[in-house]
Amino acid sequence: MNVLVTGGCGFIGSNLVKYLRKHRPAWTVVNLDKLTYAGNLENLTELEKDPKHVFVKGDIGNRELIDHLIFQHKVDAIMHLAAESHVDRSILGPEAFIVANVLGTNVLLEAARHAKLSRFLMVSTDEVYGSLGPTGLFTETTPLDPSSPYSASKASADLITLAYEHTFGLDVVVTRCSNNYGPYQFPEKLIPLMIANALADKPLPVYGDGKNVRDWLQVEDHCAALTLALEKGQKGGVYNIGGNSERENIQIVKMILAAVGKPESLIKYVTDRPGHDKRYAIDASKIKRELGWTPAHTFEKGLAETVKWYLDNRPWWERVMSGAYKTYFDSQYAHRLQG
Ligand code: NAD
Ligand code: DAU
Repeated sequence: MNVLVTGGCGFIGSNLVKYLRKHRPAWTVVNLDKLTYAGNLENLTELEKDPKHVFVKGDIGNRELIDHLIFQHKVDAIMHLAAESHVDRSILGPEAFIVANVLGTNVLLEAARHAKLSRFLMVSTDEVYGSLGPTGLFTETTPLDPSSPYSASKASADLITLAYEHTFGLDVVVTRCSNNYGPYQFPEKLIPLMIANALADKPLPVYGDGKNVRDWLQVEDHCAALTLALEKGQKGGVYNIGGNSERENIQIVKMILAAVGKPESLIKYVTDRPGHDKRYAIDASKIKRELGWTPAHTFEKGLAETVKWYLDNRPWWERVMSGAYKTYFDSQYAHRLQG
């Protein structure tokens, strides 16, 4: 099998590329990534000399390039992860999200359709369902009701993908997962940002009252689920993926402070994210029942391992937090920290 992974230098993508090389050694992985601020080849240093990992720097919106890669590498299937992924950035500037997430996905779908690929796996998100009240879970039939420019762009891509199955017969599978955590996550997202700030004795900016709930999924568990969905998912099927680990943000922030031995006085409650979804919680029973997936990590074990990884890999996150990113980071958080 030759698989084209898009966004393979980002957080989930780089974990997925490594997962595939380890667990599907016969496969060739072609990794197409534009290397935006969130993409980093350093995440894949261990595959530098691996002949079955082919890195190509490029944009998913470049149809000519996609056609060429499919032909040159005899690509059988696409696992599509490339995206603008950060909700806060989509509030500051939605356009990049429409271009990458909506138009970029459509270019890939067109290429897949014309090349008659055997499968197109669209990595969507639980944010397409919108926000839950205090009870209930998202199932695959929950109506889509996205709130942010990010989640609206992902919902568009998700629905366009399903439309390609319905209209053109393209073999697609859509996965909708909850919040991932683990190694190589860019320190703009809750868990790595809080670890990095705590280690630097900087304030930990908690939005609103800190009682918003996310349902956490360890990234390797997610990669295992994506691989199963690619191999065994039903054509046109949608699969929720979640770690059954609901936590309030403030609980996580306190767990991180305890893990790195820093005081809770570093917590700073700041102005809430506009349109902040209150609660996400996933019913993952379909993928468990149909594809035999089960997550291997408990949240406590996974978070402890993640904190250790950030402690052991300080040069990595110090480098990615410097330069161009730092300008965005400082301006955004300086503003938010005013409370
Ligand atoms: P990330 O921001 O860490 O990585 C995104 C990658 O895509 C980067 O390497 C970037 O360079 C690349 N990219 C962006 N635009 C591109 C373009 N036009 N052409 C080629 N490459 C491009 O994101 P992530 O957290 O790893 O998320 C990966 C996917 O999973 C995204 O589609 C995201 O919507 C989805 N998802 C993420 C989570 C999560 O918790 N992180 C949860 C649910 C779904
Ligand atoms: O649910 C899946 C989604 O999870 C993915 O589709 C997105 O790509 C991914 O970024 C993530 O979105 P969130 O908005 O949930 O993740 P984030 O890490 O930005 O925020 C998690 C929660 O923590 C959210 O309730 C906002 C809050 N938060 C976040 C940051 C960055 C804070 O309180 N303070 C912060 O500084």
